[in-house]
Formats: sequence, C-alpha cells, structure tokens
Amino acid sequence: MRNCIALLGLLVSVNVLAATPQELLKQYEVIAKQEDPKFAGFSAERGASFYQIERQHSNGQKVSCASCHTADPRKQGKTRANKVIEPMAIAYHPQRFTDAAKVEKWFGRNCKDVLERACNTQEKGDYIQYLVNLK
Ligand code: HEC
Repeated sequence: MRNCIALLGLLVSVNVLAATPQELLKQYEVIAKQEDPKFAGFSAERGASFYQIERQHSNGQKVSCASCHTADPRKQGKTRANKVIEPMAIAYHPQRFTDAAKVEKWFGRNCKDVLERACNTQEKGDYIQYLVNLK
C-alpha cells in the first residue's frame, strides 16, 4: 500500500511537470504580460539571433548558445567535455521543451554561463518559439 501511494505521488508530480512546447510558451506568455504590459508576443526571428549571437564572456572567451547546441539547432551539439547533445529543434528531438522543470533548470545554468545573468521571459519565449518553428 505504501509503495502504491509513493508511485501515485510520482505519477502526479511527473504529470504536473510534463508539458508541450506550446503549453510552455503559453505559460511564459502569461508571465511576460505580467512583467511588461507592452509585451507584444514572442518572435522566432529574435530567438534565432539570440541563439546565434556571440558574446564576450568576462573569462575572455566568445560564447553563444550555438557554442554547445551548434549553429544549426537541427543537428546534434556537443558539451565542452565532448558529450553529444541531442538537437534543440523540436521537430528533430520531440522530447525538447516537454518538462518545465528541466527547461527552467537549463535556462538557469546556460544563461548564466553565456550571458552571465539570467535570461528574461521574453528571451526564453523567443528562444522556444524559434526552436518550435524550425522544420
Ligand atoms: C556549455 C554548453 C552549453 C551552452 C553554451 C548552452 N547550453 Fe543549453 N544545454 C546544454 C546541455 C549539456 C543541456 C542538457 C542536455 C540536453 O538537454 O540534451 C542543455 C539543455 C538546454 C535546455 C533544455 C531544453 C529541453 O527542454 O530539453 C535549454 C532550454 C537550454 N539548454 C538553453 C540554452 C540557451 C538559451 C543557451 C544560450 C544562452 C544555451 N542553452 C547554451 C549545454 C549548453
């Protein structure tokens, strides 16, 4: 019985975290509207340049999201330790942006790594919109 309850708890929490990229975009949209009354939607085009743009890191290196996720997000990327990263484009790796906790965890880590600050909601939404649209 105790096992049964534990399993149920697990199923419920997984379900709460599960999402589709479209649902995630809706959630970010709600937050973006609260943050900025002039919010006018997410833009795949802005997301694309955000993804590609090289930034001068204070450690002297040039970094971008593409440094690991590769210039073409439809392809596999690589970590600094040379481990394969599956494509970021949703059409090429359907598990992308289906787990809100994972998404927030990696936005947190990678934005800090590349921008030396957190990404704002507009940036997150633009980024996902770009990767949703890629065919
Ligand atoms: C140092 C390498 C590296 C850089 C640079 C990097 N990432 Fe990542 N990113 C990873 C790794 C590793 C993962 C986790 C493995 C995976 O999901 O395949 C990941 C996963 C993610 C995820 C989770 C997506 C999902 O739902 O599966 C998001 C969001 C993300 N990165 C955003 C970004 C953004 C935005 C940038 C640029 C500001 C960026 N990353 C730059 C290595 C990097």
